[in-house]
Amino acid sequence: MSVDQTPVGQKLYEGKAKILYATEEPEVLLTYFKDDATAFNAQKRGSIQGKGEMNCVIASHLFKLMEKNGIPTHFLDRTSGNEMRVKSVTIIPLEVVVRNIAAGSLCQQTGIPLGTILNPPLVEFYLKDDALGDPLLTVDRIRALDPNMADQVEPLKSMATQINTVLQTFFEQCGITLVDFKLEFGTDAQGQLLLADEISPDTCRLWNQAETDPDRRVMDKDRFRRDLGNVEDAYRQVMERVLEQAV
Ligand code: TMP
Ligand code: ASP
Repeated sequence: MSVDQTPVGQKLYEGKAKILYATEEPEVLLTYFKDDATAFNAQKRGSIQGKGEMNCVIASHLFKLMEKNGIPTHFLDRTSGNEMRVKSVTIIPLEVVVRNIAAGSLCQQTGIPLGTILNPPLVEFYLKDDALGDPLLTVDRIRALDPNMADQVEPLKSMATQINTVLQTFFEQCGITLVDFKLEFGTDAQGQLLLADEISPDTCRLWNQAETDPDRRVMDKDRFRRDLGNVEDAYRQVMERVLEQAV
């Protein structure tokens, strides 16, 4: 079935945290944000009450912030609680991770102590492939996978770095330290590179600057990954602080 004949409302893709539906416009999709949460390549599963709506609100606000700062995104608008309309893109199968402070897999895999400032920030590429466990890539490995994808490395790095600058400044105004985050990109029908997926506490590490305790300061999905409790409260705090900053 060609894309133009896709019935409105048909589910096109279901991921761990979102579902994509067709709309009456072939270039436009509807993203539904779920309350479902997974970690460690879906070995841990659960639900965070209200997460879908909170992440949809946060991501919409941050996509608007990006657009205002000249970074093109797939975002069109938020249509209801958990739903946003996005431009249909071909997702590049890379997860682009930016790290300002050492945490998570960087500490586990390299022994760099938690909290080490990374200056300049690290930009890393992981293969978006759950079956392979999203392995860390090198530029040579990206070229071996697909030479065309290797051509995207520099533009992706440049966009990720710009996004980091804008996000860091924004979260600083919220009293939140942006530790690290993961981005996904796609290309539209015209071949333009667009920021896609989401930016939310599911995909960022965010530390509350008002707290010094290493567990209490966590405002992101690490509360779920590490069973720290008060997950919903942390996401709500992030949402409220983000919405206080007009874009
Ligand atoms: P990591 O330290 O586990 O590699 O995670 C780095 C950042 O990427 C962190 O902010 C969480 C985010 N992330 C995702 O959004 N999805 C994932 O599947 C993983 C592993 C990390
Ligand atoms: N979202 C990923 C998963 O389920 C991992 C994570 O965010 O920790 O596998």
